[in-house]
Amino acid sequence: MTNMTNRTAFVTGASRGIGRACAKALGEAGARVILAARDTAKLEEVAYEIPGAMCIAIDLASAESISEAFAKAGNVDILVNNAGITKDGLAMRMKKDDWDAVLATNLTGAFLAIQQVLPGMLKQRWGRIINISSIVGETGNPGQSNYVASKAGLIGLTKSLAQEIASRTVTVNAVAPGFIETDMTAALSEDVKNNLLTHIPLRRFGTVEDVAAAVRFLASEEAGYITGHVLDVNGGMYM
Ligand code: NAI
Repeated sequence: MTNMTNRTAFVTGASRGIGRACAKALGEAGARVILAARDTAKLEEVAYEIPGAMCIAIDLASAESISEAFAKAGNVDILVNNAGITKDGLAMRMKKDDWDAVLATNLTGAFLAIQQVLPGMLKQRWGRIINISSIVGETGNPGQSNYVASKAGLIGLTKSLAQEIASRTVTVNAVAPGFIETDMTAALSEDVKNNLLTHIPLRRFGTVEDVAAAVRFLASEEAGYITGHVLDVNGGMYM
């Protein structure tokens, strides 16, 4: 396994689900992990599982909170933009507040976090930025126009930024999970889940560890020749 002993990894939305699994995987690879989310009490629980982990409160919907959090973090070598929310509804009836909230957290928040880590990464000529997008950012999904716009936006951001900063050995990639068993998806009915399974060639839902393994690989030294890529972790649901 790759050794990340000299690296600091900042993971947003690390209090549960995919973010928590990413933080654990990076910690197991030796990185010093910074766990960030709004609820620091929950982060402290996760920190018990990761030796040396540090917790920082962050609200990705607030530019001020983002700059404060990164000021506390110091130099970051690996940024995982994982925090994300949904506020689903048909476009015709969607409230502007629901559109704004999802774009602010999922896309603008990720962009502002990237701006915080870029100066350090460019100066040291090494960095890894990994944006957690989604399968629906590639396929579209009715009832999720705000969420899909944010996730497709992350893919565009990934590819543009990758080209801007490749000369400094900083890579920028996206991971696009399919149906992963987390709090976000637990609310779906059994009928919906069974129907979804028929569309997944590998015939199972993904685990948070499946996504974390992809993130850990993209963060590693071995992935140094991969940039601007969207890595699907979806059991073959979309290819
Ligand atoms: P989750 O809802 O279990 O966890 C989301 C995390 O983001 C939590 O730690 C939460 O505190 C944090 N967060 C939300 N809003 C925040 C804000 N304003 N500031 C700071 N932190 C905030 O979600 P899950 O399922 O672990 O998803 C993680 C990422 O993966 C999200 O970006 C999601 O869109 C994406 N994803 C999830 C899929 C799934 O099937 N669960 C599929 C595809 C993508």
